[in-house]
Amino acid sequence: MTSPQENILSRRTIYRFKDKAVPEAIITQALKAASCAPCHKHTHPWRFYSIGKNTRESLIPLITNLARIKSEKKGSSNVSKDIERAISKIKNAPVLFAITSKLSPDDSFREKEDYAATVCALHNMVLSFWSNGVGSLWSTGSVTREPETYQKLGINGKEEEIIGFIRSGYPLATPDVSKPSYEDVTTYLN
Ligand SMILES: Cc1cc2nc3c(=O)[nH]c(=O)nc-3n(C[C@H](O)[C@H](O)[C@H](O)COP(=O)(O)O)c2cc1C
Repeated sequence: MTSPQENILSRRTIYRFKDKAVPEAIITQALKAASCAPCHKHTHPWRFYSIGKNTRESLIPLITNLARIKSEKKGSSNVSKDIERAISKIKNAPVLFAITSKLSPDDSFREKEDYAATVCALHNMVLSFWSNGVGSLWSTGSVTREPETYQKLGINGKEEEIIGFIRSGYPLATPDVSKPSYEDVTTYLN
């Protein structure tokens, strides 16, 4: 069993997943870990939306449009392949969640603190998955920010903000990413 420190240090964002289901027990464990995140004033501002087959299907026209616009803008030589890839990312992710944080339009400090707490919850989820051999990708692609996505997922955009989608599954490959040393980012004051 890996230690919490080893789990944190070895975690990498996973971009490609095996075609293998993640057991419900592992997903439940990750949701429990997420719900245990710290939050000031005990506001528990996070919500997790597990996105199933039918809801994914309902997002495909939007994903197609967004992928076409992005692909044409960058002058891609194969727009249909780009669209296919964008659809596959959502359709074939073994696990797909949207994570939202509570909005507080009249209290920007509360909203900022709540966002911080929701990030903690999201990362608890990612680390819990990782401790079970399941990798994740936090994405903030355009689909996560579209009014149509809120509508299809039944999320009230005046009350909650989608802070990202999490795609999770067993890794096909684990990227090597170099990180800055803690020494470069730490200042010791007398
Ligand atoms: C707030 C946030 C948003 C991210 N959005 C995306 C995204 O839209 N697409 C993507 O491929 N990766 C996304 N990532 C993953 C980062 O690119 C990744 O964390 C970074 O490359 C560092 O790699 P590591 O997670 O393996 O340490 C996001 C990460 C964070 C924290």
